Amino acid sequence: MCIQGLQRLEYRGYDSAGVALTAPGMGRVAVRKKAGRLSNLIDDIEADPMPEATVAIGHTRWATNGVPNDVNAHPHASRDGKVAIIHNGIIENASQLRLDLQAEGYRFASSTDTEVAAKLLGKIVDNVIAETGAPDLLEAMRRLGRMLEGAFTILAVDCRQPGVVVGARHDSPLVVGLGEGENFLGSDVAAFVAYTKTAMEIDQDQAVMITADGVTVTDFDGNLVGDPAVYEVDWDASAAEKGGWDSFMDKEIHEEPAAVQRTLFGRLDEDGNINLDEVHIDEHDFKAVDKIIVIGCGTASYAGMVAKYAIEHWVRIPVEVELAHEFRYRDPILTPRTLVVAISQSGETMDTLMALRHAREQGSKVLAICNTQGASIPRESDAVLYTHAGPEVAVASTKAFVAQITAAYILGLYLAQLKGAVFRDEIHQTLDSLKAMPQKIQWVLDTQPPRVARAAEQLADANSFLFLGRHVGYPVALEGALKLKEIAYTFTEGFAAGELKHGPIALVDEGEPVVFIVPPERGRNILHAKVISGIEEVKARGAFIIAVAEEGDKDVERYADIIFWRPQCPTLMSPLVDVVPLQLLAMDMAKQKGYDVDKPRNLAKSVTVE
Ligand code: G6P
Repeated sequence: MCIQGLQRLEYRGYDSAGVALTAPGMGRVAVRKKAGRLSNLIDDIEADPMPEATVAIGHTRWATNGVPNDVNAHPHASRDGKVAIIHNGIIENASQLRLDLQAEGYRFASSTDTEVAAKLLGKIVDNVIAETGAPDLLEAMRRLGRMLEGAFTILAVDCRQPGVVVGARHDSPLVVGLGEGENFLGSDVAAFVAYTKTAMEIDQDQAVMITADGVTVTDFDGNLVGDPAVYEVDWDASAAEKGGWDSFMDKEIHEEPAAVQRTLFGRLDEDGNINLDEVHIDEHDFKAVDKIIVIGCGTASYAGMVAKYAIEHWVRIPVEVELAHEFRYRDPILTPRTLVVAISQSGETMDTLMALRHAREQGSKVLAICNTQGASIPRESDAVLYTHAGPEVAVASTKAFVAQITAAYILGLYLAQLKGAVFRDEIHQTLDSLKAMPQKIQWVLDTQPPRVARAAEQLADANSFLFLGRHVGYPVALEGALKLKEIAYTFTEGFAAGELKHGPIALVDEGEPVVFIVPPERGRNILHAKVISGIEEVKARGAFIIAVAEEGDKDVERYADIIFWRPQCPTLMSPLVDVVPLQLLAMDMAKQKGYDVDKPRNLAKSVTVE
């Protein structure tokens, strides 16, 4: 069961994996751990089975301190081997604690902060036994929680209490699964959703003890938490399974029409007006907003960049977009009239969480756009607009991106409606275009994959790519470049196409693949002509042109070597379709190179450390 949970969480880190378990009568906790993928651990346990257990804890690691090897893998045990822990986060005072313990004669096998916490917890357990005469892992965990600095979720087992698992959290996620005659703890609900869909939130600086039939939650001082929030997970375990697809990434790209549809669903009333009752920010506060700052990391930040073009156009208030980790540390100008929109698929990205805390401390309102129910980012925000993309398992984000854009558009149109910034007709027309997008994405998925596959074959040996776009095509270019970096390990750069002659053109040589996102040419779209001149300029220098363009675009046909077609749609809607062939291209190229597209090297899906 524990291993199955780990399989579902492996996307969070896959440098190494391990389990610790115990049962009545055991004099030590049994620990097994292995560097590399979880499958290494499973093979090892199959070859040499572990004892039957009443409780078990398991971990997949994304190395923060200490290289990924067997010794540094979690769990780590106490000096006497009676207690074992697993840990997510970074313990910032670990060096000092290590020195203190070394002065008392403790020796360390690994270079991890986790081993320090394990040894320290073992010592605290002994102190508690000396004081009270009985082991009390929960009390020991609370004391540990008060001593550690930094970010941590820690779970522990003790062979003297073989029916309990204890946890603590500070700035790192932890959720309880409430089953019948069994209970679970996990970094997210995916760990236990196959066994129960009822989840309980553990808040900041709380400790928890679970047994087969009970859950106790307290703060670090031992005060009982009366009524922890309980909720039902709104997706099924099967949603996080491959279901016949070759990879999660492939499956998730093909779920994009549904991701957009579900994100729109229920947010429009019968008259076609946007209804955001679920967003608990006062209309009055919304109306007062005079600036929006969108924060996020990676793909989420590019969704934010797309949203900027749309929201500024509709609402006529300035929108800034910033990487969460830059925003936090540059003393941004925030007022109570600033709305900060934090975009995050996982809802656990530490950089984004820290940035939103900073914004709230300065008195700004924060609205989260998030794909994960009950995650830290939505919980710590003033309001949340969930994207209903369903669980995203592949590390490289795909369906969450289109769902994030959709949610941000709904927010923009809602603000426009509220502020009366745009005529009702225009809002309705825009909503109609948005509602048509799932079908258009489906068209791309039905017709373009063979073209993309051929392109991937043709480009298999390319060492670098440039991606260029203008207006909303610019963030799409950045996202296309990111996908190819992340999973095909190809050097790529994304630029605003207008920058071409200010630098990037120097990189263009005979045969260099250059991907252009070409805006629709209907009407007098000046941008179309500008992008076409960019194509001409690099073509003249021998570049190999790949274009994403509107069906039947004759100018593009004239110059491009490969074209991925988009069906007709308004420019602001085009990112929702244009990104699709670029995601497929990255996936096909990575598969051709024999890489695991779902678990690219060095990356993790939820980056819960700063
Ligand atoms: C990691 C992932 C990216 C993701 C980014 C932001 O870097 O590898 O795919 O875009 O985090 O994640 P979030 O969960 O906040 O959207």
